Amino acid sequence: MPNEIRRVDVDLAERSYPVYIGSGARNTLPALVAGLDAAKAVVVTARGDAEVPDPGVPCKVVPARDGEKTKTLATVGELCRGFVDFGLTRSDVVVSCGGGTTTDTVGLAAALYHRGIPVIHLPTSLLAQVDASVGGKTAVNLPEGKNLVGTYWQPSAVLCDLDYLDTLPESEWRNGYGEIARCHFIGAPDLNELPLLDQIFASVSLKARIVSADERDAGPRHLLNYGHTLGHALERATDFALRHGEAVAVGTVFAGRLAGELGRIGTGRVAEHASVVASYGLATELPAGVRGGDLIALMRLDKKATTGLSFVLDGPRGAELVRDVPEHVVAGVLDAMPRHWD
Ligand code: GLY
Repeated sequence: MPNEIRRVDVDLAERSYPVYIGSGARNTLPALVAGLDAAKAVVVTARGDAEVPDPGVPCKVVPARDGEKTKTLATVGELCRGFVDFGLTRSDVVVSCGGGTTTDTVGLAAALYHRGIPVIHLPTSLLAQVDASVGGKTAVNLPEGKNLVGTYWQPSAVLCDLDYLDTLPESEWRNGYGEIARCHFIGAPDLNELPLLDQIFASVSLKARIVSADERDAGPRHLLNYGHTLGHALERATDFALRHGEAVAVGTVFAGRLAGELGRIGTGRVAEHASVVASYGLATELPAGVRGGDLIALMRLDKKATTGLSFVLDGPRGAELVRDVPEHVVAGVLDAMPRHWD
């Protein structure tokens, strides 16, 4: 029996595109490239010696490395020089195959090269499949911080092939499950009992709906940052020892407690935050050694914190961005959070 491949459409008028999800989704690549009328492709792959995706047209393969350290403007420059070297034009295509740092970096290179060339993402981590590769955010880091230079550049398609997840290490599963767990509070509840294909399908469908409504993050797209205000601060406070999804999971528990403290939700719903996160095998406590004051200082640097401390919080109307949460309330909730003692 052929594998089941599901399709989700990100509906953005002339920039609309499909996301194919399932084992073997990568095999749709040649047809998609043909549909773009591309004569050649550059395939940027972070999968080492593993099978290179076949675009079905003459291609140059460029090795990449997943990780925040190579997510730089220098890498974007090197990629673009590789595109020039192969004679890539705006009517050709770039293919990225790797985790979220690879899809972010290659996406930015595609956005900038010749002022924009089509790109197809083949995300290979759970985090990249359920979040990073869908929605068109591309960015690289500066020494001063993560994702500070980027643009919106929608891919022509995203192929979430479950076969890529076969060899995923445990920490990468936790990284992805943090993002899936937070979906419970922003419109896709009860994913924890579902098979993996359904979890990815539901997470991508939710993201597609939100991005279609607000491509450029002016309103509803903030919802995707549920648990992220504290999550980003925890990543930095732990020098990235805590992976993004793990940090978002703790941030989600915190967001529930803060919403409870502000009277937006009741105690049952507060507890639901911890139980949902725990159901994915994710930690619900603050890591040992991080100080509340340091976390607050880091949260003030959050890109969404244009004025005071801002959080996406659950409430009577569902989740929404809440600005100017008083610092003493945030500090009190942080102090009351359970701590992980090694
Ligand atoms: N990862 C959040 C967003 O795409 O908006």
